[in-house]
Amino acid sequence: MLDRARRLMTPSARSDVPPFIVMDVIAAATKIEAAGGRVVHMEVGQPAAPAPKTAIEAARAALSGHIGYTESLGIWPLRERIARHYHETYGVEVSPERVIVTTGSSAGFILAFLSMFEAGDRVAIASPGYPPYRHILTALGCEPVLIETTAATRFAITGDMLRAAHAEKKLSGILVASPANPTGTMMTPEALADLINVAEELGVKFISDEIYHGLDYAMPAETAVRLSENALVINSFSKYFCMTGWRVGWIVAPEPLIRPIDRLQGNLAISVPTLSQIAAAAAFDGRAEMDEVKHGYEENRRILLEGLPKIGFDKFLPVDGAFYLYADVSKFTDDSFDFASRMLQEAGVATTPGVDFDPEHGRHRLRFSYARSADDMREAVDRIGNWLRTR
Ligand SMILES: Cc1ncc(COP(=O)(O)O)c(C=O)c1O
Repeated sequence: MLDRARRLMTPSARSDVPPFIVMDVIAAATKIEAAGGRVVHMEVGQPAAPAPKTAIEAARAALSGHIGYTESLGIWPLRERIARHYHETYGVEVSPERVIVTTGSSAGFILAFLSMFEAGDRVAIASPGYPPYRHILTALGCEPVLIETTAATRFAITGDMLRAAHAEKKLSGILVASPANPTGTMMTPEALADLINVAEELGVKFISDEIYHGLDYAMPAETAVRLSENALVINSFSKYFCMTGWRVGWIVAPEPLIRPIDRLQGNLAISVPTLSQIAAAAAFDGRAEMDEVKHGYEENRRILLEGLPKIGFDKFLPVDGAFYLYADVSKFTDDSFDFASRMLQEAGVATTPGVDFDPEHGRHRLRFSYARSADDMREAVDRIGNWLRTR
């Protein structure tokens, strides 16, 4: 019976994408907790705080009404509110027509890639980088082209690097994030502007993942919306607004892509969950509450920047934004996966090994997420310090 099913239902080659390793770490941590153990969670890239009260109240009020489908592009009040956010936050005018509501930025990537690229197109992304970029591109038949980044460019792709990669073999697109995951590094406004100019000169389509905007500490984050009407921008309510599980995000699309994305979303999903869209529109009224959460991350960042060097983690990338610190652990190990597993089992601190983000150098790197409480950060530093002394 099983044999027959295996013969009939062979999975497609395109579905053979690697798993997201952090999910395995979360599963191992959950097992320890189920057995009564204590784990400090620094592996998960999500806020511990709930959604803004304004969002929760709006969703509660809407529940008693009819929750039907919405327009594929999203409810107009939310599209308008997001457009206004660009005026309020960056001083840039955006037509609500260009704003498309998506099921988290994750669905935004699928819609962006499908509307911009053909199967076989090559798309540049930075390494280290967020694993689903390459896995989604691969599943859609595109080719992710990893461009190695270093401290010399604050772990960002530069115009010169893009020119060199394009000259080697033609690229169709480039995707960048600032602040970035896993590095937590940011591009200066000048670096972003230069890269967009070079991409446009080469005819390479530009995507900016701005999901960590609002969580910037070293410098204010610049939006690609200001720099070019031809860049496609992806954002989300998951991080700054602490709404990961609500699954709502948005695209600011160049005008020629609005209708294609409308058609794609209508066919692929009909529309984004209605309750989440209503909550998201109200989330903007909860900014004061979310700024408090951000101040908490700033305190966590301060605790780690002070505490980690004292226990031996003295090499890490600039901790510019998001809620990640990407540490070099080469003086402790050649195998960050094994190191992270032992740190979890023996010290009770869960982190994510760099191999998830960088097949090349990740075995020397570890990502710490500092999205939880200040007490958790202090406990983690103590636990790791004691563990390193006794191992
Ligand atoms: C850089 C980056 N982009 C996109 C996402 C996807 O987030 P969501 O689909 O919740 O908007 C994440 C999630 O961790 C991320 O780190």
